[in-house]
Amino acid sequence: MTSQANIPDLSHMWMPFTANRAFKEKPRMLASAKGMYYTATDGHQVLDGTAGLWCVNAGHGREEIIEAISRQTAEMDYAPSFQLGHAASFRAASAVAKLMPQGVDRVFFTNSGSESVDTALKIALAYHRARGEGQRTRLIGRERGYHGVGFGGISVGGISPNRKTFSGALLPHVDHLPHTHDLSKNAYSRGQPAWGEHLADELERIVALHDASTIAAVIVEPLAGSTGVLIPPKGYLERLRAITEKHGILLIFDEVITGFGRLGAATASEFFGVTPDIITMAKGISNAAVPAGAVAVKRDIHDAILGAAATGIEFFHGYTYSGHPLATAAMLATLAIYERDQLFKRAKDLSGTFENAAHSLKGAKHVIDVRNLGLVAGIELESRDGAVGARAAEAFGKCFDAGVMVRYTGDIIAISPPLIIEEAQIQHIFSTIGDVLDTIA
Ligand SMILES: Cc1ncc(COP(=O)(O)O)c(C=O)c1O
Repeated sequence: MTSQANIPDLSHMWMPFTANRAFKEKPRMLASAKGMYYTATDGHQVLDGTAGLWCVNAGHGREEIIEAISRQTAEMDYAPSFQLGHAASFRAASAVAKLMPQGVDRVFFTNSGSESVDTALKIALAYHRARGEGQRTRLIGRERGYHGVGFGGISVGGISPNRKTFSGALLPHVDHLPHTHDLSKNAYSRGQPAWGEHLADELERIVALHDASTIAAVIVEPLAGSTGVLIPPKGYLERLRAITEKHGILLIFDEVITGFGRLGAATASEFFGVTPDIITMAKGISNAAVPAGAVAVKRDIHDAILGAAATGIEFFHGYTYSGHPLATAAMLATLAIYERDQLFKRAKDLSGTFENAAHSLKGAKHVIDVRNLGLVAGIELESRDGAVGARAAEAFGKCFDAGVMVRYTGDIIAISPPLIIEEAQIQHIFSTIGDVLDTIA
């Protein structure tokens, strides 16, 4: 909690995805961050168990990133990216492309995950149109999927509170695959659950219903994060890839969370050995030091769109801040740290310790499932009658006060620390959660 002296007027700011009234009654305010720790305004240290919002993969306050941003802002604060270029943005695109699966090497810059998702959906539509299949307009998402908050993202997304208020204005012609979560089949899985590959076949049902010739793309998170950590069943992503390929449907992996080392590889695509047609990214791309996102696209998709256009602009899409100098400086510095410090390998090497520490919560009070992959874990709690999310919300607050930052969705606690975490800090996160759960009714 925060000492009153440090609290400004809270009334004007409308906080995102926050219980505003509850927060403002009992604010928890952060003041600074370094390495694995935040410092709250009351001075207490909080171990970052969530890399901020799944984004500060290299840890907080990295000097190289700070210097790169400072240097860039002094040299050139802003450059328009429409019809003009600056070197760092092209270098950053090459650096991102180098980390993508082979052939997925054309990069479009955005400022966020939501923008990356909407950009990817538009690229899918533009691609089919460029090939003379403009009737392929249907987009397929998945139940419980999170693809940000743009109208495209919430339409293909599958989290009902994010959709219901806007239900009259969602994109038309969208369908959803079922999610893969079933505790009666896959509770306490270590790594990928054995059950659930067959759920990818639901895509065949959707194809049979609408006809493949009307479907542009399928978008999924390879590992669903924001809904509460749903790990893909063994074979599931491979099957989705096979079915999409068979029907000429583009496969988009939303790697906003899984990109840049979260699973112990540059991308989830590399980790699972499944190459989609389009990959969306944000968060870890710049270590969150400057808002940044990107979409990596297979070269032939890019070439088809450019090739089909008359002279002039080939793709009518872009943001004032696409490839912003500060974002590209931050990206280059971030990607250099990942490489120099071998952070993706570090995540892979730590994943066994992390798995064991997470599963030590099996049998802890209220816990009904623990699941994990790479440096991500989900701890599902039994919900209180008529108050879904209340128990996890209380655990979140008590963990924060005890010096550990966790995240929660419904009654699922999610852990996704910076990749620089030490083994003792991993143990500390999960033992603190266990101790806190003991104190909660
Ligand atoms: C998979 C996925 N896609 C998209 C987004 C949206 O990103 P942003 O909040 O940067 O718009 C998120 C954010 O958590 C995400 O996890």
